[in-house]
Amino acid sequence: MRRRSGSSAPAPDRVRPGATTGPSPVRRGSVAGPSRVRQRRSGTRAARVADVGRHERVAELARLDVEGLVVADVGCGSGRTVRALLDPAPGAHAPRLVHALDHVSALDDDLLADARVRSRITDLDGPLPWRDGELDRLVSLNTAEHLGDPVAHLAEVHRVLRPGGLCVLAHSDWDTALFTSTDDQLTRTLVDRFTAAALGPGRSDGFMGRKLLALAATAVRRGSGWTVEAATSWADPHRRFDDGSLAWKVATGVLASAQDDPVLAARASGWMEELRALAAAGQFLFTVTDVAVVLRRD
Ligand SMILES: C[S@@+](CC[C@H](N)C(=O)[O-])C[C@H]1O[C@@H](n2cnc3c(N)ncnc32)[C@H](O)[C@@H]1O
Repeated sequence: MRRRSGSSAPAPDRVRPGATTGPSPVRRGSVAGPSRVRQRRSGTRAARVADVGRHERVAELARLDVEGLVVADVGCGSGRTVRALLDPAPGAHAPRLVHALDHVSALDDDLLADARVRSRITDLDGPLPWRDGELDRLVSLNTAEHLGDPVAHLAEVHRVLRPGGLCVLAHSDWDTALFTSTDDQLTRTLVDRFTAAALGPGRSDGFMGRKLLALAATAVRRGSGWTVEAATSWADPHRRFDDGSLAWKVATGVLASAQDDPVLAARASGWMEELRALAAAGQFLFTVTDVAVVLRRD
């Protein structure tokens, strides 16, 4: 993959570290209203289905089937997955404690104030800040691509999970980003560039989603004692293109990745405006394939 340094970026959260992902972002520092999961429970069937996003899916894969669990979300960003863990689907139990770990402080203020949440500022490229076997579950969404050695990280995750504990490793595969546009060729060019571009001084991998299983297999082969319980994928539909929407964030990353080519950058700006117009006319769709692997510590 071609990599550039000092440029801006593929993934939406790589545009603004810790930014939220999902269709209806909670503003940093704002107090969240009723969660999407609660709205989902009381809405129509269609509304319920439409309202499930990647954060809720990750929370469901963490199988919160008993009370009193201690869970960690590593690379938590503003805390959308933390929020989904704290308000799980009917039949599941909110954890007793959610550790929200990131190397920058971006957690929403209401989560910082929540007694069930413990914010940790830690670099995932080093040791995890928990004792052996301290956690029941660990989840990670769109973080693996940023790590120097994801297999070494998994060995650390193995250490801090109790036997039988679960690790949910989830990642968008940015190469699968799909945008409705009237210019398919330009869209192809822009998505290719977006996928290939590296973000700033950090690491990124636009193909990480499809690599998760191989990553898990390497961890198993190295003998740390994992069983791969499940591998799954989904592509949620997003029809909004207003500022802050997921499609807008990814398109903003696409635009940024074209900035070193002035002609392409100008065409990308026009492309953004067209997506906005298509969304206003109800003709726009954005999806990206998310992949998740569930590992059980033996
Ligand atoms: C793409 S964002 C995903 C945020 C969140 N999981 C979500 O899906 O909304 C990646 C997150 O990983 C964090 N991150 C990247 N490298 C890290 C590292 N070495 N240690 C700790 N956190 C890291 C970033 O700060 C960012 O919040």
